[in-house]
Amino acid sequence: MAEHVTIGRIGEHVGQQVTIKGWLYNKRDSGRLQFLLVRDGTGTIQSVAFKKEIDPASWEAAAQVTQESSVIATGLVRADDRAPGGYELGLTAFEIVQLAGEYPIALKSHGVDFLMENRHLWLRAPSQWAVMRVRATVIRAIRDWLDDHGFLLVDTPILTPAACEGTTTLFETEYFGEKAYLSQSGQLYNEATIGAFGRVYCFGPTFRAEKSKTRRHLIEFWMVEPEMAYVDLAGCMEVEEQLVAYIAQTVVSRCRPELEILERDVAKLEAIVAPFPRISYDDALVILAEAGEPLEWGDDFGAPHETILGNHFDRPVFVHRYPARSKAFYMAEDEANPELSLSVDLIAPEGYGEIIGGGQRAHDLALLERRIEEHKLPREAFEWYLDLRRYGAVPHSGFGLGIERTVSWMCGLHHIRETIPFPRTMGRIYP
Ligand code: 4AD
Ligand code: MG
Repeated sequence: MAEHVTIGRIGEHVGQQVTIKGWLYNKRDSGRLQFLLVRDGTGTIQSVAFKKEIDPASWEAAAQVTQESSVIATGLVRADDRAPGGYELGLTAFEIVQLAGEYPIALKSHGVDFLMENRHLWLRAPSQWAVMRVRATVIRAIRDWLDDHGFLLVDTPILTPAACEGTTTLFETEYFGEKAYLSQSGQLYNEATIGAFGRVYCFGPTFRAEKSKTRRHLIEFWMVEPEMAYVDLAGCMEVEEQLVAYIAQTVVSRCRPELEILERDVAKLEAIVAPFPRISYDDALVILAEAGEPLEWGDDFGAPHETILGNHFDRPVFVHRYPARSKAFYMAEDEANPELSLSVDLIAPEGYGEIIGGGQRAHDLALLERRIEEHKLPREAFEWYLDLRRYGAVPHSGFGLGIERTVSWMCGLHHIRETIPFPRTMGRIYP
């Protein structure tokens, strides 16, 4: 048997006999010729069987093979501009590993419920293949950028004794006779680890029992959370825009074929360069009122408001200094106006909504004690957190970037459920 190569690198083997191991995506035949589209996870290649040039067993296998059967194909690699992908395999041998039964996801359009029910198979479709590769690229870009800019990866626990982002979306579980919760955010722990390492980030799954079925919410989602000692709100925004611009430019440069499959308007991503506009919460209220969606001062933005704000700019926009009472307990307060928090959200363009939440943290002990009380949080569970304000407290900031919302935006998807291999949504925990 010839050397086993991947379709993604087939261009390095023009003129050679190679073997491809994969699955049959589609086929058509014209009597003397059979065209078999074979994919192997790295790409798809048209393989051509010519009756006169192939052994009868291989010809018969090619005739029998069904959609999504696993197959091994051997042949000569030819460069051919007319073939999809630019290369073609002139088959000399073809073998079926397992003949697939009638594939549920025929090559036509299906309803999304049906596709979600068959998510384990749907992942093989070109669009889903492209999204998962963009996801991996986004994650790699984030880690590369942070690793290269002095951040240390510090993992935070999934099982936690207290809430970080409010008690209404907690997933409760039992922990040897005590209550525990699945992590909503690693932030509080990384406020501790900056005392050891200066600049850190955690990256992992987070959980929110959100009782809302929107196209931006998952129950289980992945978040990267950088945290930085001696950085204020302004410094935090600078890091955010550098990171987000790097993600967009990396996707543009490394995921051309994927963006093409997804029919993504690449120019929209190329425009994502720093600096991003910065507006205050109060400025945002003016824009919303002008757009016919007035809000009362103090109200939090809903999806329609984020969409209006996002569409107002051609790149992500920072909205800073939200009313303290609409934000989490740990936010620092604005010295100029204690009603305001030193919080900042980054809102993506094109209606993708908030992709980052963060800001400067309260590092004053008395303020935090008061907030814990106001938010009716169990003080005992936060003693360790208060210690951080007793032993070497410093101004510090951080943020959390939602991977799935970012991938949704990069890919130009309508719904967040396609951005994670096996989405957990309010109505679904299968497959
Ligand atoms: O704004 P959030 O709730 O902020 C935090 O959790 C902070 N503790 C982060 C920090 O400062 N370290 O969430 C941050 C981001 C959101 O902007 C959004 O992108 C994403 O996490 N997110 C969700 N993504 C999908 N489904 C959900 N239910 C999400 N909730 C938040
Ligand atoms: Mg938020």
